[in-house]
Amino acid sequence: MMNNNSNPLLIYNGHIIDPSRGIDEIGSLLITDGKISWLGVEEITPPQPGYDVLHAQGLIICPGFIDLHCHLRQPGFEEKETIATGTQAAAKGGFTTICCMPNTNPPLDNQVNIDYVKSVTATEGVVCVLPIGCISKSRQGKELTDMGELASAGAIAYSDDGEPAANSRLMRQALDYSLASGLPIIDHCEDVTLTEGGVMNEGLISTKLGLQGMPAAAEEIIVARDLALAQLTGGRLHIAHTTTEGSVDLIRQAKEKGIQVSAEVTPHHLTLTEEKVVGYDTNAKVNPPLRTKRDIQALIQGLNDNTIDIIATDHAPHTEADKLCEFALAAFGISGFETALGSLMSLVHDGQLTLATLIAKLTCEPARIIGNKYGRLGTLAVGSPADVTIFDPDMAWVVDTKAFASKGKNTPLAGSVLKGKVIATTSQGRLVYKDDSVEVNTNGKY
Ligand code: DOR
Repeated sequence: MMNNNSNPLLIYNGHIIDPSRGIDEIGSLLITDGKISWLGVEEITPPQPGYDVLHAQGLIICPGFIDLHCHLRQPGFEEKETIATGTQAAAKGGFTTICCMPNTNPPLDNQVNIDYVKSVTATEGVVCVLPIGCISKSRQGKELTDMGELASAGAIAYSDDGEPAANSRLMRQALDYSLASGLPIIDHCEDVTLTEGGVMNEGLISTKLGLQGMPAAAEEIIVARDLALAQLTGGRLHIAHTTTEGSVDLIRQAKEKGIQVSAEVTPHHLTLTEEKVVGYDTNAKVNPPLRTKRDIQALIQGLNDNTIDIIATDHAPHTEADKLCEFALAAFGISGFETALGSLMSLVHDGQLTLATLIAKLTCEPARIIGNKYGRLGTLAVGSPADVTIFDPDMAWVVDTKAFASKGKNTPLAGSVLKGKVIATTSQGRLVYKDDSVEVNTNGKY
């Protein structure tokens, strides 16, 4: 049963982890009028009459996840996803704030198009959507957008994602102009002269499969260029979907020099290798491509030493027809919201990331990149909007794409068993997702 939210909701007796304030303890959390009104270790005994109660014993309670990089496809590609289905999938994955990339049709390159996303979200969205505006008009890489107009309309960053900012002069100007709004430039780092025709990581496996490769150097060349331009301009650079050991090294060195850069990595690049492509599963075709075990180790080390700031899904839903074709013709992208936590928990179960680090990379760290302008995000501090994710760290489940809320069933994880499942999500106090395994009891019962 979904609570009707007119009553206070007590999330009772769970394991609260809020890295924004160093909280890691058993306790309860109360939501009243859309806000976190109380959080504490002493149990409220018994939960008060009039409270709705979700008994969270054995479950983790943490700030709602924030995704700095996803594709909602509306306007223009509603057959792949809509703001309604995308936000429902996000809620199911524990995400309460999602930042959507502007590679829609029309692209989000002016105020009217940003306003459209905001107004559809207001009526159809179940979690908060923050739009990202284009760097260049029509994402053509030729002429800058009116970046001030996009910032005033509510864009939280600029990107031509799906395409790199291929022209170095334009990238320099974008970083320069971004100083006025203070918003980051998010670059999809790919030297397209090296990747043209490529469909997977370049290496022994691409050779064996007879598929054209995309070398690690294609990413690293643009990462190196962007870092040099960030140093030149003082602008804020954010590297999207980092995938290679070389990129991690470059970002680490840049941070040591004091260059203003942040970086993200996706769940799939942290957990899957290029070997997923053996068998020609087009659902494993993604850009940048799945890389090697060695790259994965470097990415995990980068997360642990804060070279890589955040985890972002790059949720990229596609239709069956987009993927049901020969490998070379298939669309790039993985539908990622609903498997993100389960995939990432494998790193915690293997001892490669602590639970607190994983949660930080999904909550307070992306909140820091977005900044405070859009409300207090990524924290369970009393008075903040009640964006809360509750998950079972140990529950095993089978990925069934038919049960996805997303229209995009395109995942190479279909049929896999993941350990770690989102149980409930509240967005500004509204229960926007609840797993069948828990009940919300009314009137103080628990
Ligand atoms: O695999 C990808 N899919 N990579 C991108 O950069 C774009 C995305 C999409 O829009 O489908």
